[in-house]
Amino acid sequence: MHLVTGDTLEQFCAELQAKFAAGEVALDFPYDGQYEGVCKERQFASASALRDARGIAREQKAERSAWLMRDFSFFDAPAVAFFTLPTGFGLREDCDLGMFAQTVILGLTAHGLGSCPQTALASFANVIRPTLNLGDHKQLMFGMSFCYPCETVVNEVRTEHTASADVVTFHI
Ligand SMILES: Cc1cc2nc3c(=O)[nH]c(=O)nc-3n(C[C@H](O)[C@H](O)[C@H](O)COP(=O)(O)O)c2cc1C
Repeated sequence: MHLVTGDTLEQFCAELQAKFAAGEVALDFPYDGQYEGVCKERQFASASALRDARGIAREQKAERSAWLMRDFSFFDAPAVAFFTLPTGFGLREDCDLGMFAQTVILGLTAHGLGSCPQTALASFANVIRPTLNLGDHKQLMFGMSFCYPCETVVNEVRTEHTASADVVTFHI
């Protein structure tokens, strides 16, 4: 995990926003997951809940794009953690990184901090890589902005939680 604040974060903000505007995506890990059925429904529900909270309609493309740009100013958070994996690791180690990140989230929460894991922050790995000295042996999976939470409508959004009976199969 690499922690970034201050001038380095400001530099990332300018560079990532420029890359997003130019559409020059460079990922270390591809987006090749298929969202179908209930997973697609949940993905849409989460996006619409955030859009509704901000009063943005689905057809307001400019406003939606401006909102996506907020990812690259880290939603105004002053600190970002970047999560990497050694080159050559596989699916099992990807899961380990997810568990590690969840532990970081819980630790931040215990100290009164809010966090936003952002896969978007891995979209321009070519910008992040040289500054963090990742070399050839580490790959960037995602970033996580964090700070003390402020009161905004977006922070009040609560996505619907799936009933445990829908995600757990009991064998008795
Ligand atoms: C692995 C992962 C990647 C995510 N990537 C992004 C992202 O790039 N941009 C974003 O705004 N939200 C992203 N999210 C969603 C937010 O981090 C957050 O989980 C969501 O707003 C719901 O928050 P809640 O779980 O506290 O209700 C991601 C979530 C996860 C778990």
